[in-house]
Amino acid sequence: MTLHLHRLTAIIFWACCSTTAPAQQPQLPIIPTPVAVKAGTGTLTLTAQTTLSIPASQPAVAAVGAYLANALRPATGIEVKTVTTASAAGIQFQLLNPQNTQLGKEGYTVDITTTQAVIRANTAAGLFYGVQTLLQLLPPAVESKTRVNGVAWTLPVASITDYPRFGWRGIMLDVSRHFFTKEEVKAFIDQIARYKYNRLHWHLTDDQGWRMEIKSLPRLTSVGAWRVPRYGQWGTHEAPKPGEAATDGGFYTQDEIREVIAYARERFIEILPEIDVPGHSMAALAAYPELSCTHEPVMVNPGSHFSTWHGNGKFTMHIDNTLNPSNEKVYEFLDKVFTEVAAVFPFEYIHMGGDECYKGYWEKDPGCQALIKKLGIKDAHELQSYFNNRVNKIVTAKKKKLIGWDEILEGGLAPGAAVMSWRGTAGGVAAAKQKHPVVMTPNETCYLDLYQGDPAIEPPTYSHVRLRDSYHYNPVPAGIDSTLILGGQGNLWTEQIPTVPQIEYMVYPRAFALSEVFWSPQPSRNWTGFVSRVEQHFERFDFARRNYARSMYDPIIGVTKNAAGRLVLKLETEVAGLDLYYTLDNTLPNQYYPLYKGPIELPEGTDLFRVITYRNGKPVGKLISITAEVLEKRVGK
Ligand code: ACM
Repeated sequence: MTLHLHRLTAIIFWACCSTTAPAQQPQLPIIPTPVAVKAGTGTLTLTAQTTLSIPASQPAVAAVGAYLANALRPATGIEVKTVTTASAAGIQFQLLNPQNTQLGKEGYTVDITTTQAVIRANTAAGLFYGVQTLLQLLPPAVESKTRVNGVAWTLPVASITDYPRFGWRGIMLDVSRHFFTKEEVKAFIDQIARYKYNRLHWHLTDDQGWRMEIKSLPRLTSVGAWRVPRYGQWGTHEAPKPGEAATDGGFYTQDEIREVIAYARERFIEILPEIDVPGHSMAALAAYPELSCTHEPVMVNPGSHFSTWHGNGKFTMHIDNTLNPSNEKVYEFLDKVFTEVAAVFPFEYIHMGGDECYKGYWEKDPGCQALIKKLGIKDAHELQSYFNNRVNKIVTAKKKKLIGWDEILEGGLAPGAAVMSWRGTAGGVAAAKQKHPVVMTPNETCYLDLYQGDPAIEPPTYSHVRLRDSYHYNPVPAGIDSTLILGGQGNLWTEQIPTVPQIEYMVYPRAFALSEVFWSPQPSRNWTGFVSRVEQHFERFDFARRNYARSMYDPIIGVTKNAAGRLVLKLETEVAGLDLYYTLDNTLPNQYYPLYKGPIELPEGTDLFRVITYRNGKPVGKLISITAEVLEKRVGK
């Protein structure tokens, strides 16, 4: 209800106070959509003679120039020559003096005429974002990694003014559940920078692997980074056998991490490291079992079953994966870890996790119970708050600020801590009401690991986030001080994501939507225009040979039962103007089969429903096949 009211307020604001209505904005193929675009007529063509003029003696600006030259070279073959004298032709970077307060630290303008393209900004970061916009205005073939002949490398005449809505525009990458190499992480960073993201939240530790070298605690990586190899369905893998060799995994040395940080900084991305404690710590406990309540030897989890989820957020762990908050050695351990994390990562925040900490072992542990009594606190939840405060002291002693998942609110938030709201938005609202900064990452709109299409044909997961859900998210809930919302983040948990193509499939196009949510003004949301731009970016990805999901073309299948007890299927699509062809007789549907015109009642005996979407006579979606048995289970869901 409040969200709808907020949207309505936004629409009214736009209608009365804005000079350019979104529907009239020309749809230049830019994601995230800029604040203001004035399209002109004509084009500027880049040629072998095109020069890039940059202000002299600014290394950060020269680096952005080199980035642009490198981005243009493979597909166009153009070697852009950099000059430090202002030129009336070609591409020009200008640092604004005096500064333009509207553009802030990351904004820019791009002015393209038939003779030159000028990018102006207060900072090198702003120029970098102007470069991203410029690249997106070139033909999609510019994304090719090999030379493309016969393309005119034109830019449309236009004037663009642009700056972000939020200062925190992040994506979280989980490298514990599946390990991704330094080069793969860099490629991920390079890609998100294209969409003006400026934070990578690096989930470096979890039950399934510890990924950061900690020199003072070598077993964290010699033991904690490795698990027994398993294939097949995550969560059902066979548990490690005693004495079995742990050969699957990997970690980053501190030098490698520094290299990734430098690479990210060249793309104006800061990296937020996460050390997830006191739960999710099985990999650490495999290395140092004395830090749990049970002291039981454990092995790094290889994706085998070790917890039961009861719904309503309640769960039971069958193997102890929690640090013991009553053991001083735990804080000595954490001091060593955070000392090294703080020394390696320059970003102002460190993420301490704090999510899904099972209290069952604490409740049975005499040491924890004695501590609860001694502190005069109520229960194990307040004990986690005590633990959080201890971690906060450690982290702030290293001159860093603490951020954690919204569970760190329970039992009282540590002074100055920021909250990442993931179990919906309630945690974010509560934290903001207590005047703490918030990053919004609610699972129902920002989780990139969830189904984006029909579960019958998507990799298994536990809930849904469709592209339109992400796109229509507004990170500022009604009734709170919006300045406390630092921004938002998409989260990519990788239990079900073992490969880079699968990363790309899950991240794109939802990260397009979220980039717009975190960068573009809220009133500029325009679903039809967005879909059209997404399609142009699909073409760019095709040239780049990069994967993405086409699930937005797949039908959304609603299932009910009528009075006669028959299944009734109601189909819709996220994208307008699609034709849906279906079969009920185990044959493969195409454009010669029945066209969906309204709810379908399945005749008695139907055992398989199949459907596929077409546009202009061509298939655009995936073939979906669902048994009547599965449909039956979906009734009312
Ligand atoms: C989380 O998804 N457990 C933060």
